Amino acid sequence: MSAKPAIRVAVTGAAGNIGYSLLWRIASGNCFGADQPVILQLLEIPPGMDRLNGVCMELTDSAFPLVHGIVATSDANVAFDGVNQAFLVGSRPRGPGMDRSDLVAANGPIFVGQGKALNDNAADDVRVIVVGNPCNTNALIANANAPDIPDDRFTAMTRLDHNRAMGQLAAKAGRPVADVEGVIVWGNHSPTMYPDVSKATVQGKSVVDTFDADWLGSEFHKTVSTRGKAIINARGASSAASAANAALDHMRDWWTGTNGKPVSMALPSKGWYGIPEGLMFSVPTICEADGSLTVVEDWELSDHAKAKIAASADELLKERAAVAELL
Ligand code: NAD
Ligand code: LMR
Repeated sequence: MSAKPAIRVAVTGAAGNIGYSLLWRIASGNCFGADQPVILQLLEIPPGMDRLNGVCMELTDSAFPLVHGIVATSDANVAFDGVNQAFLVGSRPRGPGMDRSDLVAANGPIFVGQGKALNDNAADDVRVIVVGNPCNTNALIANANAPDIPDDRFTAMTRLDHNRAMGQLAAKAGRPVADVEGVIVWGNHSPTMYPDVSKATVQGKSVVDTFDADWLGSEFHKTVSTRGKAIINARGASSAASAANAALDHMRDWWTGTNGKPVSMALPSKGWYGIPEGLMFSVPTICEADGSLTVVEDWELSDHAKAKIAASADELLKERAAVAELL
């Protein structure tokens, strides 16, 4: 038995595709460490409860030593009771022919109730990642409905975009992804995102000096920013294992710290780089050992980068205006 007290980890949409990948890795210690027990607090909507029951049976049958309890519920107040780490995944995925922003009407209201339930029930140290799309604006909604929780505990996931960019650069260079460093994704988790390789290196060599500028500006950018749609077209379902993996990377980095290395996370803007305050915007973020998040504020931006960042901020302003009644 571990000496550490268990932490409470909520996963919403726990019977969905991402949940099915995420839960096993949280339970095996792949996120919070091999010596950190967890109590899993799993939320589904009532029609999902039979499926969730099956997921719980399989979790029990996996006999994870680190799992000190499993709660399965359709009540957000129960799922978020005393919760320290919250993965907000539950929401509708888009289908072929849809944009992520088309989901805001269906999914936005979910994050009103869940923001309130977090506000009323979560532990003082709660940290939240929103994965459900459109994740930046859903995180904004949850944050706005949880006035007692500090803003900087709410984040949205752009780590999948970050990992996609790393994967594309590694593949192009014919090197393992461990040789790639310094990529940052700015903005919205949408095609307006800006995958910034200005400081990126492969095997220590500048990406900008090594790769063809045309490839970086066109194919690379397009592949990363539209990868979600390409996966839906190929798989007939939205990315799930890679999304769960990215959520784990995000929360693991926040838990352990990144040793001064910036990663891509969407946080409520404090006006950095002229990004309107409050927008959930992906920026270069250092996860400190004490659990705080520091935004790198002196990243040099070209005029091209500034224009891309402004366009993504404009899109998020429009999304914010569209959900004004939920904030
Ligand atoms: P899924 O349909 O397989 O699973 C979603 C689950 O959420 C379902 O079981 C559903 O019953 C449940 N659910 C719906 N409303 C809920 C609510 N109010 N409370 C609790 N549970 C609820 O979908 P999925 O593939 O797991 O994707 C989930 C979300 O994640 C989608 O919105 C998808 O677009 C998004 N996503 C985001 C990223 C990203 O990079 N940010 C990547 C991939 C997927
Ligand atoms: C992704 O990027 O794969 C997800 O956000 C799913 C989607 O709708 O693109």
